[in-house]
Amino acid sequence: MKRSIHALAQGLLAAACMAAIAPQIQAQTSPRLGVQDGQFVRDGKPHVIRAAEMHYARIPHEYWRARMKMARAMGLNTIQTYVFWDLHEPEPGHWDFSGDKDVAQFIRIAQEEGLDVILRPGPYVCAEWDFGGYPAWLLRTPGLRVRSMDPRFMAASAAYLKRLGQELAPLQATRGGPIVMVQVENEYGSYGNDHDYMRAVKQQVLDAGFDVPLFTADGGSRAMLEGGSVEGAIPLVNGGGSPEDVNAAFALAEKLHPGTPRMIAEYYPGWFDHWGEQHHTTRAEDHSGDIDWLLAHDISVSFYMFHGGTSFGFTPGANYSATEPYQPDTTSYDYDAPLDESGRPTPKYFALREVITKHLSPGETLPDVPKAAPTIAIPRFTLKQSVALLDALSRLSAPQQSEYPRTMEQLGQNFGLTLYRTRLPQTSASGKLTLGEPRDYVDILVNGQPRGKLDRRIPGERSLDLTAKPGDTLDLLVENEGRINYSAKMVDERKGIISGVHLGKRELSGWQQWTLPLDDLSRLQFSKAQATQAPAFWRGEFTLDKTGDTFLDVSGWGKGHVYVNGHHLGRFWHIGPQQSLYLPGVWLKRGKNEIIVLDVEPAANARHDVQGLQHPLYETKKS
Ligand code: GLA
Repeated sequence: MKRSIHALAQGLLAAACMAAIAPQIQAQTSPRLGVQDGQFVRDGKPHVIRAAEMHYARIPHEYWRARMKMARAMGLNTIQTYVFWDLHEPEPGHWDFSGDKDVAQFIRIAQEEGLDVILRPGPYVCAEWDFGGYPAWLLRTPGLRVRSMDPRFMAASAAYLKRLGQELAPLQATRGGPIVMVQVENEYGSYGNDHDYMRAVKQQVLDAGFDVPLFTADGGSRAMLEGGSVEGAIPLVNGGGSPEDVNAAFALAEKLHPGTPRMIAEYYPGWFDHWGEQHHTTRAEDHSGDIDWLLAHDISVSFYMFHGGTSFGFTPGANYSATEPYQPDTTSYDYDAPLDESGRPTPKYFALREVITKHLSPGETLPDVPKAAPTIAIPRFTLKQSVALLDALSRLSAPQQSEYPRTMEQLGQNFGLTLYRTRLPQTSASGKLTLGEPRDYVDILVNGQPRGKLDRRIPGERSLDLTAKPGDTLDLLVENEGRINYSAKMVDERKGIISGVHLGKRELSGWQQWTLPLDDLSRLQFSKAQATQAPAFWRGEFTLDKTGDTFLDVSGWGKGHVYVNGHHLGRFWHIGPQQSLYLPGVWLKRGKNEIIVLDVEPAANARHDVQGLQHPLYETKKS
């Protein structure tokens, strides 16, 4: 299994010097799940957790129950989910738990389907999610340090957990609900070893009213297990597939924390994709071998992911590595998981089901595998109306003026694109245009004409030779492609232009800035004339006599975003690997449907058409 982000994290960690902490794990009788003699017990009986990780926000709520029925039919007894703070508190003190964000409803459905729930409220979650789930507005406060004892951060974290407690504490097993365990933080041992911080987060979780057993989850190295654990929380292990790896990790855990139950809190049956990489797939038979061995040894396990789903809209995060400064995640979070992006069981699902069947408890039987809803094809059609983005600015936002460019967060924007505009000076209009680090992708236009781009993924790509005339209009259209969600660099993931813009030696000043969160495109006015100028929005309609899930083939387009009936499906980029976007059938209507595509950088032979496919399309192309 490729685990580059973890290997990197290990390298970054100073050698841990803490003495082992003895966990205060006690047998519990009133909560249904507890630990006795190094084993999970549920209602007093030895218990093996077989959990399905899936994230409510990556699945339309209409499909939650169907996904859970699939989990039950594969032989799983628990749903494990993160909670994404940024979704629920989009602005400080403004809370949203509605629709696809109704995590309480997700948990109630799990209970109705006979499943326990393991809750992972963060506040940091990683998860290939923008900024690891932290709200971007935290970055509006200069110098604020997330994931630390910074009192400004801790106050915000406490407020979030408290509000979440109002929502979810009543759903704990101690009060008749299905939540049997709650995680504190997430893999903190891959990041640091400030035990005061972990103690403080644990206290916030307790203060929020969570009173079922708590746990931490960390990679299986000594530094990670020491750094990430906290007394009073069960220290579980993430990763590891082969018996040797797993034995080594548990031996270490047992040495550090005698009496720890054996559970792989994240077992990876697949992996996620970054833009520009090959699509990741793994072999079903490797996983069935691992799972056979784990279950034969009564080791609990959670499949990360059982069903990955989709990082809709602007929610994907990013990584970085020693050689690649920035690796944005794709919209698809298919993960090559047992259930595919549209919720259909894959050969891996059936292979795992077969193995799990061998290890059921006495008297336990599995429901039949439900029939998955069929996907539909939509014949190719052309988007005929358009409007250039630069002509539509006034319909999207009002400009903010400042002498020097401000970051997206300073402009009050969490996600999307920002247009920065200035007039080139009378004295020097040509030279090297230098930006500092692009955050993350900058299209450069002079008098509305594209002149090039700066891509944060490319090491050292920071400047561009510009030839222009005095007084020309310089536009920098900057796209936030997702905040880094893992390891040290995430702390300062401000977006947009984060330092001065220079032309030659001269710093450019006098900027107008349009924030483009693109969360409401209803005011755009399209015309039938084809926009000759990129970037542009394109609009089309298609008529359906029956609805169903489909994969929109966007391989003819360059780089941008797709909206269907007001739902932001996510990002496309000709470099792949993803060349189609998952469109849930519940977002479609019988009759007329509307699609809007923003293409910021059309491909050489751009085709302004789309078709719906029954299966996703993958192809990695050169940048
Ligand atoms: C880690 C994190 C998860 C996720 C996986 C990779 O282990 O805990 O949130 O990021 O890696 O998918």
